[in-house]
Amino acid sequence: MSESRVPSRRRYLVCEPRHFTVQYAINPWMHPDRPVDVDLARGQWAELIGAYRAHGHTVDAVEPVADLPDMVFAANSALVLGGRVFGSLFHAPERRPESAAYESWFKAAGFDVHRPESVCEGEGDLVPAGRWVLAGTGFRTTREAHREAQEFFGVPVISLQLVNPYFYHLDTALFVLGDGTGGDDANIAYYPEAFSPGSREVLARLYPDAVLATREDALAFGLNSVSDGRHVFISPRAEQLAGRLARQGYVPVPVDLSELHKAGGGIKCCTQEIRS
Ligand code: ARG
Repeated sequence: MSESRVPSRRRYLVCEPRHFTVQYAINPWMHPDRPVDVDLARGQWAELIGAYRAHGHTVDAVEPVADLPDMVFAANSALVLGGRVFGSLFHAPERRPESAAYESWFKAAGFDVHRPESVCEGEGDLVPAGRWVLAGTGFRTTREAHREAQEFFGVPVISLQLVNPYFYHLDTALFVLGDGTGGDDANIAYYPEAFSPGSREVLARLYPDAVLATREDALAFGLNSVSDGRHVFISPRAEQLAGRLARQGYVPVPVDLSELHKAGGGIKCCTQEIRS
């Protein structure tokens, strides 16, 4: 039975994949020897931005920097909650300079930026989901950074252990369907096998009504989706998950970022949400 879902307007920060390429491998999706079509990547990315705007969302863009090919993955640069910016410290040396580029944008836009002391890859691993922030660890963001984020925001941070290198960021294995800004009603979709047994139990306890994804959905970047509470911007290849979401009253909006998948990222990775 389908309920009527209400969208809310969002503000997203993005970065055009003008300099996109796969020239190093820091996750199992990346193969520097395989060609990448930068024009295709730019075209697919432009479709995503068009879809956000067509659904009433505000989109801001950071100027891309040459030689930072992963800068398109804006989600990794920070977590912004209540207008407060918890910046990033990347695991891979190749990505470290991205933090300063995003920091400059935030400062120019009037935000202070807190620089984390240990490795933290922003919304890639820190996901606000109702009354708490869900936080992934195992491959990138450290538990120390989870503690630092909890202290910074004063919001309970729930650490979750990721166990499969294909799902190296929390946002490759889980996304929030509800508003994710502190309401009690947030629900999530996730792929249980990406988590340790204990973390699976935690998720089942916190979100008994979660939408579960299959391995095929997860490998198609179906969990790397963005929801505004009604519309779910999702990979068209995650067919089973899109069907399950539609049966729950959500409206899947398919956007194909197949060229960006070659770097191990999808829709959510390209999207930083600025929560005021
Ligand atoms: N190549 C990038 C990396 O491995 C992809 C980042 C994807 N971003 C995300 N939020 N999952 O760091």
